[in-house]
Amino acid sequence: MKTYKAHLIDTPVPDAFRFIENGYISVSDEGKVTYIGRTLPEQAGQVTDFGDRLLIPAFNDLHLHAPQYRNIGLAMDLELLPWLQRYTFPEEMKFANLDYARKIYTRFVHELWMQGTMRSAVFATIHLDATLLLADLFQQSGLGAYVGLVAMDRNAPNGLCGAKTEAFAGVNALDAKLGRKGRVRAIITPRFIPSCSEDMLTELGSLAQQTGLPVQSHLSENLHEIDWVHELEPDATCYGDAYNRYGLFGQTPTLMAHCCYTNDEEMQLMKQNGVCVVHCPTSNNNLASGMASVRRFLDNGIRVALGTDVSGGHYMSMLRVIQYAIQTSKLHYAQSKGKIPFLSLSEAFYLATKGGGEFFGKVGCFDIGNEFDALVIDDSYLNFDSYSLPERIERFIYIGDDRDIRHRFCAGNELPEPPQIH
Ligand code: GUN
Ligand code: FE
Repeated sequence: MKTYKAHLIDTPVPDAFRFIENGYISVSDEGKVTYIGRTLPEQAGQVTDFGDRLLIPAFNDLHLHAPQYRNIGLAMDLELLPWLQRYTFPEEMKFANLDYARKIYTRFVHELWMQGTMRSAVFATIHLDATLLLADLFQQSGLGAYVGLVAMDRNAPNGLCGAKTEAFAGVNALDAKLGRKGRVRAIITPRFIPSCSEDMLTELGSLAQQTGLPVQSHLSENLHEIDWVHELEPDATCYGDAYNRYGLFGQTPTLMAHCCYTNDEEMQLMKQNGVCVVHCPTSNNNLASGMASVRRFLDNGIRVALGTDVSGGHYMSMLRVIQYAIQTSKLHYAQSKGKIPFLSLSEAFYLATKGGGEFFGKVGCFDIGNEFDALVIDDSYLNFDSYSLPERIERFIYIGDDRDIRHRFCAGNELPEPPQIH
């Protein structure tokens, strides 16, 4: 048992922050929160006093591409489909080389740690050896992750097209290596409908059914992509239905990134099947894809998480994604002449912590019984006047960064800095 003292700030519900000034939080040896309050509990164990620092839930990034890490901050001049062909597929081909994979994936895992992202849902590539290596690096780091061996067999260079049997065996190998008890696990990852033949989708659907493994993919991101999906899957009534027909749309826990153009029918299907939207506003801007209306999803009772979508997204900090989510929602507000309320700061913070954390279990806020995923923030250089706690969290979110993060905890363990290759 351990107890930490700091200013505790989290969002058990989206509507408002919970502030506990000079509060105490106790964590069991299993890494679970056992107490949160204003006074020192009787059974406190070893007490660590973080003084005037803030203690907040760690961030959860529910959509990003590890092999696109080299391309962060590059290649913003094309829309999705030509961007994939011109910049992304050639980069992902390089992961056939394990030395290259080690160099990039080591830096990638280091950056997740640096940015305070303790859990993530990650796309790798079709290469099993490199994907096993990525999973290994995650396990060594102590970070939680769903790691996806990407399945694709059409509309890409030969080097990035694999056989369905390889995809099936590969996911099983990853699952067997990782098991279902640890914090790093396998996830079934069809890239998107244009990348996966009917045979491949059928195979992945039966894999989901047999194993119960979760699924992640892309949905309704770009208008050209959607037209293409209608050509490829003419019987599907909407893009989401194209996944649903194969049992890849909520039959097991499912993440769908983007959803900029989700219509009412797709929305209904997502709601019915419990599909979680991953909103990626930096990427949607950079690739000129469109604007997803988070408010519409929330009003319809659909679960929403946030993702950086590196390297469609240009930065791995979830603080940036929170800002862009709010700013995008304000464009919707203006466009609708004030009819669609924009996201509040607490709502956007909730999406970046508990919204995504729920995909990993009881993760994302400091309620009793939750896993203790937390960041200790030193905002002293921002706090040069007598700012209140609501002002301090707002300023940290808008103008703070990873340099302010002093300690990082995942499931109760303080994580040391992972190795970095220079
Ligand atoms: N759709 C299919 N592949 C990708 C990808 O790598 N990034 C994004 N943003 N969309 C995709
Ligand atoms: Fe993506």
